[in-house]
Amino acid sequence: MAMQQGGILTYARGGSWIGIAVSLLLGLAGCNRLGSADEDWPVYGGAAAENHHSPLDQINAQTIARLKPAMVVDLDVARANSEPLEVDGVLYFTGGLSIVQAFDVETGKRLWRFEPKLDTSTLKLRFAWGARGLAYDKGRIFVGAQDGQLFAIDAGTGKLDWSVQTTQGANDGRYITGAPRVFGGKVIIGHGGADFSGVRGYVTAYDAASGKQLWRFFNVPGNPADGFEDEAQAMAAKTWTGEWWKHGGGGTVWNAITYDAELDRIYLGTGNGSPWNPKIRSPQGGDNLFLVSIVALDAKTGKYVWHYQQNPAEAWDYNAAMDIELATLSIDGKPRKVLMQAPKNGFFYVIDRETGKLISADKLGKVTWASKIDLQTGRPVENPGMRYLDFGPSEVWPGNLGLHNWPPMSFNPGTGLVYIPVVESGMNLGDKGVDPARWQPVPGAVNNGISELFANGMRATATASLLAWDPVAKRKVWQVETPPPWNGGTLSTAGGLVFQGQVDGHLVAYDARSGKRVWRYPLGSAGSGTPISFSRKGRQYISLVVGPALGSQFALEGASGYGWNYRTQPARLVTFALDGKAVIPAPAYAGPERPLPDPAMKLDPAKVELGGALWPACMGCHGIKAVSPGSAPDLRASPMHHSQPAFVEVLRNGALAARGMPVFRELSEDQIEALRQFIEARAREDAASAARTAARH
Ligand code: HEC
Repeated sequence: MAMQQGGILTYARGGSWIGIAVSLLLGLAGCNRLGSADEDWPVYGGAAAENHHSPLDQINAQTIARLKPAMVVDLDVARANSEPLEVDGVLYFTGGLSIVQAFDVETGKRLWRFEPKLDTSTLKLRFAWGARGLAYDKGRIFVGAQDGQLFAIDAGTGKLDWSVQTTQGANDGRYITGAPRVFGGKVIIGHGGADFSGVRGYVTAYDAASGKQLWRFFNVPGNPADGFEDEAQAMAAKTWTGEWWKHGGGGTVWNAITYDAELDRIYLGTGNGSPWNPKIRSPQGGDNLFLVSIVALDAKTGKYVWHYQQNPAEAWDYNAAMDIELATLSIDGKPRKVLMQAPKNGFFYVIDRETGKLISADKLGKVTWASKIDLQTGRPVENPGMRYLDFGPSEVWPGNLGLHNWPPMSFNPGTGLVYIPVVESGMNLGDKGVDPARWQPVPGAVNNGISELFANGMRATATASLLAWDPVAKRKVWQVETPPPWNGGTLSTAGGLVFQGQVDGHLVAYDARSGKRVWRYPLGSAGSGTPISFSRKGRQYISLVVGPALGSQFALEGASGYGWNYRTQPARLVTFALDGKAVIPAPAYAGPERPLPDPAMKLDPAKVELGGALWPACMGCHGIKAVSPGSAPDLRASPMHHSQPAFVEVLRNGALAARGMPVFRELSEDQIEALRQFIEARAREDAASAARTAARH
């Protein structure tokens, strides 16, 4: 099959003169590679096209038995799941609250550590992760932080070069968890926040050398009375009704930004609406551009070029925020420059990136919200009964974890296949008891104008798999079960392998053509990060960050069964190579957490219920239903909730703020007491069911 790699770099095989000549001919980024035959991983996704594919083949089905840890570093940060970068033998990655560290690949020596100054005493943190990745350009490393700052760091020394506040202050409801991207001397970053606060999403491009703002693009329109920033906003405003700007609108670009070097364009993947319930956001209907859309911008000016919306009038917390990967595919015998995406809503989209025209959209698994996507209009054909609005809760697949979420897929131009980490779960959504006209967000809570989901709507029975998809033939080639509920992103290699870090604590390799598992190695902790591959002095390496922080703490209680514990599980950077000589320490855990109820505590059912309603503010770190997958202490098992004064100290007065436990000043004493009672109720329930299980055995 004639298939190219979006013209971008991935032809350059380590040590191959033909490959280097091709990159020279293409004359594109990556000049840093030309001095040596080594292959770097200087960009999130490996190269601008973000295929998460390595052209290296030293590690392959014949040699993989010799693949062993070559470098193991236990990290001084509580949580890390970012994708590292590698440039000229130095590995860079971020963990904790955007702490960046640099390590020498060959000696394992730490070269520097950069810790941004964030005011944790006031910072409203919502998730247990920092940034998912970094950007590198001309001797600078770029990282975003949860307080909305973007930092440029000297890659040689780790010293701060410049920083800029990309949001309106540290607590305007926006936070950065995505990787910045660089192109043409610019660095671009978006933000998240639409689930927690009424924010209006945007991306901003800065001069990479100085931090000066160059352009900003808003993903949803603002108040028409203030005038529109550009024509795209005026166009988008025609698809909204009511006073949407009062609720922010959402559409945040919290993850996916891809630079197209061939067309000098930027593709944004936008998120859900704020709030999720469209009756509140846009009461008389409308598609609500640019929610759940891919938006193409001119990279020089930030001007709108085209958009494709996946979910008009989004209602399910679906996102187009998953990685956007570029390729040139042979479709109907003609080479087409395409972008590919497997967003949350369960379809796999192939879009012509020159025109924005939809080429194909096919279901990857159980999808009930739509029967198909009409290829003529590009619009979904929604199934009846899926919009919970007006008639009560509906069971919808995929759930809002997404059939695919942000752990990246990978595309191997050799096999022509895309390797997608899949989660299959449904959800129950409703808006019973929500009066759209009177709805008000609750500060500090998850604010979406819906009911059901967090009470009993998430399914503890999610299954996970790795799916190899042929984007041209539009069919599944193989699919293998992986540990539930949620695993890391995938790395594909020219060695004919697909690597994935898995939640049960292994790095696993599959044969790229057959899906046969060919290798597996224990990591001693949850494999949550996305692996990368690079070569140094002719030796191929595979690196990933592992640690208790899973991809999503919303990913159900399922993950708690692996026994990963916030207090005892280190985050670590592990690098593999053929005949590596390092050793990964055995995991230090004593099985799943044991709930610690306090029989002396008096429970008031009304308080327990209120605590349950407030719990979504905590579950981004402490886990759904207070069952922690290791990303923060398991509060059922913590004696802290037995003492009302100690609990208040932590929540209201920020006793543990410097350690990543945010302050919740906006919660009243009553609300805090309700949370404490909810935790105790959960501890009692789970202690009782654990005792029943024990009695049965
Ligand atoms: C951004 C992530 C995050 C969020 C959101 C969060 N926590 Fe925490 N919490 C932590 C971390 C991390 C720790 C552990 C700090 C340490 O290392 O001592 C912690 C510790 C605690 C502790 C002390 C437990 C112990 O045994 O030491 C309590 C109690 C607690 N959190 C309650 C809550 C409640 C209630 C909420 C919601 C209102 C909440 N947390 C929201 C991250 C979070």
